[in-house]
This record gives sequence, structure tokens and C-alpha cells, in this order.
Amino acid sequence: MCGIVAYTGIKQCKNILLNGLKRLEYRGYDSAGVGILSVNHSSKIKNPVFEIKVAKEAGKIKVLEELLKDIEMQGVCGIGHTRWATHGEPTQINAHPHFDCKQKIAVVHNGIIENYAEIREELIKKGHIFISQTDTEVLPHLLEGYLKSETNGSLLVAMQKLMKKIRGSGAIVAISVEKPNEIIAGRIASPLIVGTSRDGNFLASDMPAVLDHTRLFTVINDYETVCVTRDKVKIYDSNGKLVQRNPFKVNWSIESAEKGGYEDFMLKEIFEQPYGIKETMRGRLLDGELNFEELNLTDEQIKNLKKIQIIACGTSYHAALTGKLVIEKWAKIPVEVEISSEYRYRDPIVDEGCLFIAITQSGETIDTLAAIREARGKGAKVMAVTNVVGSTVARESDSVIYTHAGPEVGVCATKTFSAQIMVMYLTGLYLSKVKGLIKQENYERIIEELKMIPNKVQIILNNAERLKKIADETYKYTCFLFLGRIYGFPMALEGALKLKEISYIHAEGYAAGEMKHGPIALTDNKTVVVGVIPQDFVYEKMISNLQEVRARNAKIFAIVSEGDKNIEKYADYIFTIPKTIEELNGILTVIPLQLYAYYIAKNLNRNVDQPRNLAKSVTVE
Ligand code: F6R
Repeated sequence: MCGIVAYTGIKQCKNILLNGLKRLEYRGYDSAGVGILSVNHSSKIKNPVFEIKVAKEAGKIKVLEELLKDIEMQGVCGIGHTRWATHGEPTQINAHPHFDCKQKIAVVHNGIIENYAEIREELIKKGHIFISQTDTEVLPHLLEGYLKSETNGSLLVAMQKLMKKIRGSGAIVAISVEKPNEIIAGRIASPLIVGTSRDGNFLASDMPAVLDHTRLFTVINDYETVCVTRDKVKIYDSNGKLVQRNPFKVNWSIESAEKGGYEDFMLKEIFEQPYGIKETMRGRLLDGELNFEELNLTDEQIKNLKKIQIIACGTSYHAALTGKLVIEKWAKIPVEVEISSEYRYRDPIVDEGCLFIAITQSGETIDTLAAIREARGKGAKVMAVTNVVGSTVARESDSVIYTHAGPEVGVCATKTFSAQIMVMYLTGLYLSKVKGLIKQENYERIIEELKMIPNKVQIILNNAERLKKIADETYKYTCFLFLGRIYGFPMALEGALKLKEISYIHAEGYAAGEMKHGPIALTDNKTVVVGVIPQDFVYEKMISNLQEVRARNAKIFAIVSEGDKNIEKYADYIFTIPKTIEELNGILTVIPLQLYAYYIAKNLNRNVDQPRNLAKSVTVE
């Protein structure tokens, strides 16, 4: 998830772009750059020749701001970008904009080009030279190639051809020296809007970038292209036909626009999960097949794996527990899961034939990092699962699987968690396939189910009001127990963690079978028991556990699969999730748990984005 802003009009654009990027910094902040169409000083006044001046730097926007102080960049048409790295580390060279060979076209991009490696190969054979590690760099080179043939020199037509060539997601915005007042853009899956004003027109990933200049917006839809000049906006559908669309007006403040109109980043990020999960699957689930080369293991190495050891902290630890369940079930490899801070101090034994996986959304958690160093020091090969490209854990591991959930601003992990779980599902299934343990029919069925997960998450989100109502009726309780078995157990732990960290209410997650070994003594009429009880092979056992706590006057809130009529007898509050196969229930049951915790915390007026005593990256012991 990166941020894009572009302007063409009658004003100097350097500060418009810079201020727009500052407003988008919540979308990505590891490097930033601008490209501005400027008159080449050696050209004639009557017949000016344009060049694209680019300034870009690794680091936060303030680094770019410092750089721009010393650079003269005159011009009224330009593009800007703040990056959240996906391909290639956050360096100056990998920062956007990117150029074609002759530096006549510059492009900024938000998204992932799945087939960039093959396109790059094709272009290299045609003589194109690449200087960055990014997927984006193929875009200006493709445009350059198309402009040479069948496009009549039209950058718009070239963009339309490019949109048919690439696979993946992208908001792509381009300028060229040939038309110094024109910006051409296209969109596949990544957000892109046009802002219109009397002094010029804008393109942006999100409204806050340009709210200082306009409140009139038009959304660009998937597979559309757009040509923006200082006084015209022309939108074209995927067949190149002109589309009529009237702008709409927004009254949002900049602060609420940053949150996409949601009250908090946490709520926004919960609602972004269908998109985040799709991004995690992107490029890895192709035409009914799993492509997971990033694992960096040969088929032979996979077949010889004797054990997997997963380490993580907090929410990531709960993703690891889910990983254990699916990897053992599908790939029949024993998996040990351990909290990083325990692992690092216990003089662990690293067995030969053991794959070591470290899960950390931030990639900076010191305990996880120390555990990785400990394991590598003893000869382990480490695979990291992280959301942050170029993070310390990513750099210090032998291979990395990026979750691609986009930056998470809220301190507590929500969308990065569902993305981690998706990586665990993909890993388990891939290992099983390579080991030849899964029947083709079952493999295809699981893939079909995985593809439906984003829509099913959306169905749950559409029913958020129901969770708000349950939270409104239960937020005054002072003890919460979250119970689950097998796939529901890590989610019970996660539900309890979410609730305690943002509401400050005491909550515990338990394997439901453990209740009788102690915790049941806690239950009375001041307790809410949240049962994670979707349709699966331990359903009946969960019902018995709920009956036990109900007999002790606890209020019962059950999260069940749709169509479960039986539960009405046992629960005071019910929330239903769409059906899926039992191994995948976890990713669906956690969404209502996140929302439930959120609404309880809001009832208590808590700051959900910055809960007390917590930090986004835990870089201290
Ligand atoms: C909870 C939460 C924390 C983190 C933990 C590990 O919402 O965010 O429990 O999961 O601090 O952080 P990472 O995943 O960055 O290693």
C-alpha cells in the first residue's frame, strides 16, 4: 500500500505534491519521491523543451522535504509517491518515480505486478535496461515500447495496452515530456480518485492528499484509464470508450478522511481485511494452483523436512498456533510453536532437517529477532513471515514471505493477523502438495475455499451492527472467558488478547477442555463466556462446555456457522459466520472477535488506536 498524488494546473506543483504526500504518509513511509515536468533551461523560450526532474529519497517524507529545499523544481504538472515497499528494499533507487530508458516517461505505482519478472525478461531482450529491484520499473519501459508502435504517440493508448498486459493490482500514474500538461493513469484493484478544482486537477490514492485544494471527487473504477489535464478529466472504460461520471462532494475533515471516514484506524483496518487477504493471496494462488517459490525450499528439501519450529509473540503467536494445526494436518510434519522470549533464553536444540519460521508483523520485535539470531547461530535456516519489507527480521532471515497487508497504523494487530493466517494456510497446503499427501480433488476444493475467504469476511463485516449491539449489552461485565477447541483455540486466545489490550477488561482465552481444570471456578453471573464454536468435529464438545458455564450463570455469546439452529438453546447472544471447511474457520471467527473487542472498548471510551502502555513495534525486552 503506497500513496500517490499528482497535479496538473496553473500553480507550481512542488509544494502541492509534497503536502499531499505528507497527508498520505499513513499509507506508506519508507521512501518518497516527486517527478515534475520542467522546461529545460537550454531550450528556446518560444519552443520550450520539457524534461522530468525527479527527486527521491529513502526514509520518511521529511527526508524528501529536506532534499527538495535545495533543488529548484519549477513546473505545474507532476507526480508524487510515498512508498510501502513490496519488491525491493526501501532505498533511493527503488523509490518512485521510475523512468523509461530515455527518461522521457515517469511512473508512480501503488500495487503489485504479479507477472513483472517475465515482462522484465521480455524487455531486457529488447534492450531495455533496468536499475531498480522493483516490479514498478517495468511500467515506464512498457509504455516506452508501446509508444513506439500502434499508439500514434498517445500515452493514453499506451496505458490502455499496458493494462491488458499486466497481472496483479495497481494504480498507475504516468507523465511524459511529450505532453507536459497531461497526466495519464489506470487502475486495477488499488484505489485511485480524481479531484477537480478551478486551479487544476488532481489524481490521488486517497482524498486527504488533496482536501486542501478540492472537495469534488470522482472515483476511478477497476480497468479504467483516465486522462487529466488542467481543465479536463476524461475517463475511459476497459474497451477505451469514454465514460460519463459526475464528481461528488465530500465534507470530511482531513483527519477523518485519513481514516477513510472510519472513526479509528483500528476500525478501518478491520474493514480492510477482505482487500488485505486478497493481497496476501495475490500471485500465490494462480489459476487453481499454488505458486509459493518464495519458500525458497526445493521439493527435495521439503520432502526431507523432519520438523518445523515456529516462534512469535502476541498476536503473531496465535497465527503460529494456527500454522501448527494446518501444517500438521495437511503436510504431516510435526510443528513446535514457541513464544520468542522463551525460546531465546532456554538453550534450544536445533535439529537437522528442521525449518525455522519466525512470524512478526513489524519485523522489528526484539525477542523474535533474538530468537532468530539464536537459531541461526546454531545452524538453522530461518524463514520470516512479516508485513514490512526491509525490516530487520526480513534482512536477517534466509527467506521471507511478505504478508502484503499494507501498513497497519492502529497499535493492535488486526489485518496483519488475518494475512499471517492466510500465509499459514498457503504454507500448509503447499508443503502437503509437494509431499504428494493431498488428493487433487481435496487440494482443488481447499483452493476454491481459500478464494472465497475475502467475500466471506466481507459478509461478516456487513453485519458489524449486530456485534455492536451485543457489545452495547455486555460491556459492563468485568470478566470475559474466550473458549475454543482445535481451530477455534488460537482465535479464543486472540479474542481475549484483543479485548484486554484495547478495553483494559480482564479477559482470558482457554482451550475449552481446560475449563474443568481450574478456570471454571471464575464463572458466575458477572462473567461473559465467548464461545468460538463453528461447525466442526468438536462442535458437540464445545456445546457441553458452554452448558457447564451456563449452569454457573455466565452469559454466553456464541460465534457459530450459519444455519446452526441448535445453538439458540445454549446461548444468550449469537453471531453467525459463513460456512467454510473446518481448517479455515479460524480466519472467519476472528473477524467478529476483533469487532466485538472494538465496540466494547468504544463503549468504555478507550483510545483503541493507541492503547495505554503498548507500542506498535516492541523493540525492548
Ligand atoms: C496485539 C499485538 C501484539 C503483537 C506482538 C508481536 O494486537 O499487536 O501482541 O502481535 O507485539 O508483534 P510482531 O508481530 O510485530 O512481532
